[in-house]
Amino acid sequence: MKPSDVVNASDRAEHGKSSQIQSQNMSQFQPISKEKKADQIVEVNPVAKDDTSVPRLPNSVTHKFWETQLVGKFKDIGDKSLPEGPVEPATPLSEVKQEPYNLPSPYEWTTCDLNSDDMCSEVYNFLKVHHPDDGYLFEETYSREFLRWALCPPGYHQSWHIGVRAKTSKKLVAFISGVPERIRVHDEVVKMAKINFLCVHKKLRSKRLAPVMIKEVTRLVHLQNIWQAAYSLPDIRATPVTTCQYWVRMLNPKKLIDVGFSCLRDRMTMNRTVKLYKLPDATITPGFREMEQRDVPAVTRLLRNYLSQFGVATDFDENDVEHWLLPRENVVYSYVVETHDVITDLCSFYTVPLTVVCNPKYTTVECAYSYYNVATKTSLTQLMNDVLIVSKQKGFDVLYALDVMHNESFLKELKFDLADAQMHYYLYNYRLRTALKPSELGIVF
Ligand SMILES: CC(C)(COP(=O)(O)OP(=O)(O)OC[C@H]1O[C@@H](n2cnc3c(N)ncnc32)[C@H](O)[C@@H]1OP(=O)(O)O)[C@@H](O)C(=O)NCCC(=O)NCCS
Repeated sequence: MKPSDVVNASDRAEHGKSSQIQSQNMSQFQPISKEKKADQIVEVNPVAKDDTSVPRLPNSVTHKFWETQLVGKFKDIGDKSLPEGPVEPATPLSEVKQEPYNLPSPYEWTTCDLNSDDMCSEVYNFLKVHHPDDGYLFEETYSREFLRWALCPPGYHQSWHIGVRAKTSKKLVAFISGVPERIRVHDEVVKMAKINFLCVHKKLRSKRLAPVMIKEVTRLVHLQNIWQAAYSLPDIRATPVTTCQYWVRMLNPKKLIDVGFSCLRDRMTMNRTVKLYKLPDATITPGFREMEQRDVPAVTRLLRNYLSQFGVATDFDENDVEHWLLPRENVVYSYVVETHDVITDLCSFYTVPLTVVCNPKYTTVECAYSYYNVATKTSLTQLMNDVLIVSKQKGFDVLYALDVMHNESFLKELKFDLADAQMHYYLYNYRLRTALKPSELGIVF
């Protein structure tokens, strides 16, 4: 996940390339502007013109590990002769490596039981310290409740919550996780593992531990007879199936400017900025209310029907909807529009706060992330305006949205600004014949 510098969208439209950067959110979500790493500079592949804008690496950049993996290869971009589907067929389970991959001798594998409060706290504390990079004013902090939500969906495998401990101190020094997910790719529903929360202790970086973690989670996924995976990264490591742009809507501009997350635009005063982003006190759509357990069947139908139009989308059933969308305080918030006992619209967002480093006045920036939104009766713009209103009421400072699904239709009108962050979506061992546009993606993670 995620975003960073806020760039004013209208400035970008006016001045083309010389977009004006409006803020300096020095969170870790500045994958491009932060380090300008050679391996993060992207260009559009000339052979992929038909495939929208598939980013690729300069020829000089190599990925020794990723080039050995079953992910989209840069050299294959634009080659329409390659078939869509698994790159390699499933292997008989008896041929899957039964023993874990070797770790350097001071370390050992461990399985993390997120249902144990102690272990959940251990993973939480590890990610809190080691997930954010040093030197930033804002650090993303996943709460314990968020980790349980993200890592324990229906049918999850505890064996896919993988830690590495130092043998002597028993301290956690690395973590990676997978959760099962059904993803529909065009007409095929494919069982996949969604891989997330890869993290290595700051002192163990650049020692090639990440590839061992990735290979071990792949092995454990294979042992469940699952051969495909999906993951998203702010960086280019192979050929993504699509690259999405983050947009950001300020809800509490005064705090965001005070805390250094954003800054005043040229010729703007604080009063004018506050007025520009002001929202009504109450939602506008009649029948707008929080989603409840009894809504699960109707919401599932609504969501499945909506997602069926996108090339690649999550295949939700009722159990998934109950888990991923039923409101959980400080994790996920979902609302429906009900008219004459019929659920016609759905909107939702999840939350991951940013911890503010060294600020005398503020400790967190409360961030909400747009999740799944379906509008069949209300206009999507009005529905999302209500999302802004409820998220502001709930105390969020900012709402992020990716340009997936139909999100582009409301971003500018609702005063979202361009964020200097993208999210690249990847499939492992599944080839798409052509890349997707962000608006053809029905997945958020
Ligand atoms: C991401 C992280 C685990 C990488 O660790 P590292 O010590 O820099 O990397 P290693 O030396 O172990 O391994 C390098 C290899 O792993 C790959 N790699 C590094 N980070 C990766 C990531 N997030 N996803 C996939 N592959 C990654 C590199 O591309 C490289 O392979 P290559 O030679 O094919 O390019 C580490 O930087 C970290 O914990 N960061 C903070 C948390 C984070 O940002 N997680 C990722 C997003 S959820």
